[in-house]
Amino acid sequence: MADNNAKLSVNGKEYEFPIIEGTLGRPVIDIAALQDSGFWSYDPGFKVTAPVESKITYIDGGKGELLHRGYPIDQLANNAEYLEVAYALIHGDLPNAEQKADFYEKVRKHTGVHDQLRKFFEGFRRDAHPMAIMVGVVGALSAFYHDNLDVSNEEHREITAIRLIAKMPTLAAMSYKYSQGEPFMYPRNDFNYAENFLYMMFATPADVDYKTNDVITRAMDKIFTLHADHEQNASTSTVRLAGSTGANPYACIAAGIAALWGPSHGGANEAVLEMLDEIGSVENVPEFMEKVKSREVKLMGFGHRVYKNFDPRAQVMKETCDEVLGALGINDPKLELAMALEKIALEDPYFVERNLYPNVDFYSGIILKAIGIPTSMFTVIFSLARTSGWISHWLEMHSAPFKIGRPRQLYTGETHRDFIKVEDRK
Ligand code: SDX
Repeated sequence: MADNNAKLSVNGKEYEFPIIEGTLGRPVIDIAALQDSGFWSYDPGFKVTAPVESKITYIDGGKGELLHRGYPIDQLANNAEYLEVAYALIHGDLPNAEQKADFYEKVRKHTGVHDQLRKFFEGFRRDAHPMAIMVGVVGALSAFYHDNLDVSNEEHREITAIRLIAKMPTLAAMSYKYSQGEPFMYPRNDFNYAENFLYMMFATPADVDYKTNDVITRAMDKIFTLHADHEQNASTSTVRLAGSTGANPYACIAAGIAALWGPSHGGANEAVLEMLDEIGSVENVPEFMEKVKSREVKLMGFGHRVYKNFDPRAQVMKETCDEVLGALGINDPKLELAMALEKIALEDPYFVERNLYPNVDFYSGIILKAIGIPTSMFTVIFSLARTSGWISHWLEMHSAPFKIGRPRQLYTGETHRDFIKVEDRK
């Protein structure tokens, strides 16, 4: 049990800060009293800062533990469907049979998008990155639901969460179809969530009977679950910060999609495949590892701000990778290359000293490629899955009073300058 207070002595004055215990993990030091000290706290990258209290997800980076509403991620990924996990993230526990049927029916009813929204796609070039399209069209959704945008209204918040979870697969598939020059496929509400997504991705008007096999559908659903939520990561923190201004939830989720796109975050799965393509073969691994150690490049799909052991999602992802490649009879040299990289990295002191282990993005790309999903769609799928996490944090924020997020800074700029007319400037 930690002491009740932390003490700080600075400039001859003593300050006391309350220590607050959670149910799991590190206690926090409430530093609000710094306000009167004449100092700000300084923590670039928020490495040691907890800006919120949350009950949704818990990560123990040392143990490689990830819980959603208390359930270990491997139990959820191997036994629950993604929509059951989405329900738990939003409502606090897995649904019973009646709640599950009701939630699934609500999602099924909202998978369609307004026909006018189709015109937004036509504004993009066919070779636009699908993430650019997703940022645009998800943000634009708010223009279609003026009647349900009062963020102080709980019913509006609830229906918006359903609409976003229901429509992300439709919009994601539309961004793919647009890039292929193929017609959009309407959602088939007799399919389950993952089946429907794969149908909208790969069926065509000439092949409306398209149905993927159960191993692939189950793998897709598992990938959604493994990406559903991850505590206060960069994109979720972006959603919360945008939400703290009272911005509408579609705009907040669009901000999350934009933040996720970065290669250090959700864009890593796409970057892993590009890296494997660049390495080419196992023979080239030693030379590539030298480039990593000289900091010319990063080993994409490795490392994590929180996990300093293994990422439990990567373990489930690896098992799923083996299942999918086995079911499809694919002997993907990229998997062999990835496993060679992993083996070397897990033994090499450079990586061991820096706690660099495979993260969730390392194997996901190989599975998605095996399913036939193009690399450019990998982060789109991550954003589809993470929408349930993002919106559950947005709902949690709105479930209690909150203040607008407004960090301070250490200023090191010019101290004072007198104005000089342009003709007198050097
Ligand atoms: C996700 O936050 C989340 O929860 C994110 C996520 C989620 O579900 O939301 O889990 C999803 O984003 C997973 C991470 C995907 N990103 C990548 O795979 C990109 C490659 N990894 C990194 O860029 C990096 O590991 C980060 C960004 C993930 C974490 O970086 P940190 O915690 O800021 O660590 P750091 O940059 O301070 O690195 C510490 C040391 C450094 O070495 P030194 O300069 O001290 O000698 O480790 C090195 C880094 O150079 N290092 C790497 C490396 N990652 C860190 N060296 C080579 N390859 C890497 N991938």
